[in-house]
Amino acid sequence: MENKAVINVCITGAAGNIAYALYSILCTGQIFGANQKMNLKLLDIESQTKGLQGVALELEDCAYALVNSIEYGFDPEALFKDMDVGIFLGGQSRRPGMERVDLLQVNNRIFKIQGKALNKVAKPSTKILVIANPVNTNCLTLIQNCPNIPKENFTCLTRLDHNRAIAQLAIKAKVPVTEVKNVILWGNHSLTMYPDHNHANIEGQPAVDIYEEEWIKNTFIPKVQKRGGEVLNLRQNSSVMSAAIAIRDHLVNWIYGTPEGQFVSMGVYTDGSFYDIPADFVFSVPVKCKDFKYEVVKDLTISQFSRQKINISLRELQDEKEEANCYDDEVEDESEE
Ligand SMILES: NC(=O)c1ccc[n+]([C@@H]2O[C@H](COP(=O)([O-])OP(=O)(O)OC[C@H]3O[C@@H](n4cnc5c(N)ncnc54)[C@H](O)[C@@H]3O)[C@@H](O)[C@H]2O)c1
Repeated sequence: MENKAVINVCITGAAGNIAYALYSILCTGQIFGANQKMNLKLLDIESQTKGLQGVALELEDCAYALVNSIEYGFDPEALFKDMDVGIFLGGQSRRPGMERVDLLQVNNRIFKIQGKALNKVAKPSTKILVIANPVNTNCLTLIQNCPNIPKENFTCLTRLDHNRAIAQLAIKAKVPVTEVKNVILWGNHSLTMYPDHNHANIEGQPAVDIYEEEWIKNTFIPKVQKRGGEVLNLRQNSSVMSAAIAIRDHLVNWIYGTPEGQFVSMGVYTDGSFYDIPADFVFSVPVKCKDFKYEVVKDLTISQFSRQKINISLRELQDEKEEANCYDDEVEDESEE
């Protein structure tokens, strides 16, 4: 992070559930550091006025030493101005029984408007983490509508799935989670995601020597893929606490770096230079990070099984992109009226 006395952190969906779980993590310095003061800029929609006011009151009541100011409202342009970091949680959430693809239309509109607002007022150095679903395509929509900010400044959250994969491997091998390293979460944050243990190690041993193929294929992969739905059905609400922790983990690695020899998973913009993934998608891949920059780990050998799984997720993202582009046209048509 650039050394600044105060940074501007904008949170969209600021009256929502994950934001609520994130505030105490953020405002106690667990992301930007124990001494980093913040101006909080909280964006939501007008129908959430009371919710936003309530959040602002509670934030005041916490008397956080690191919170320099709190501003809230509904105008993206006003709140994106001078922002250093944006945490994009705002959008329509998935409800029980709702498919992710159902969310495409409404969220595409939101992200197109916000991308244009970012493009108009945000600094080119702004860093953006997108969480709102369908997250890969929302992130792509922001990038496409905001040419003034470099594409590498945008990432999307697949760290929750990555963390879920680590946890399941650790439980199965009966080791602490800290002993599971270099898991990869490929692709879309959806049922087609591919948690990959092929390059992971467990207490320094190759993971492929530890787990039976049958368990990996029939238990591990589907369990990680369906974990969000499992939580949703039980809680009647999507993952909140674990998502807030994943946001912390993602940003901490992006800002402060990944340990030597280790990588993590992030959704990043594709330029066609890695793993035969075509350009102009946001795809989750292994990355190494340093100083709020990421570098894709490009030299891993991909098995035939992994290739098939990656391709399935890619095809889904191609479909999502096509659908999003249809909706783009509709938004354009309306705005021209
Ligand atoms: N990527 C991941 O791993 C992951 C994990 C969990 C949840 N999610 C997604 O994160 C998002 C937030 O989850 P949540 O549980 O906080 O949902 P939530 O429904 O509690 O909160 C979403 C908030 O966004 C607001 N909002 C809607 N449209 C907006 C707009 N145009 N501008 C600003 N704010 C707007 C809503 O009013 C609401 O307050 C959801 O899309 C959810 O599906 C992603």
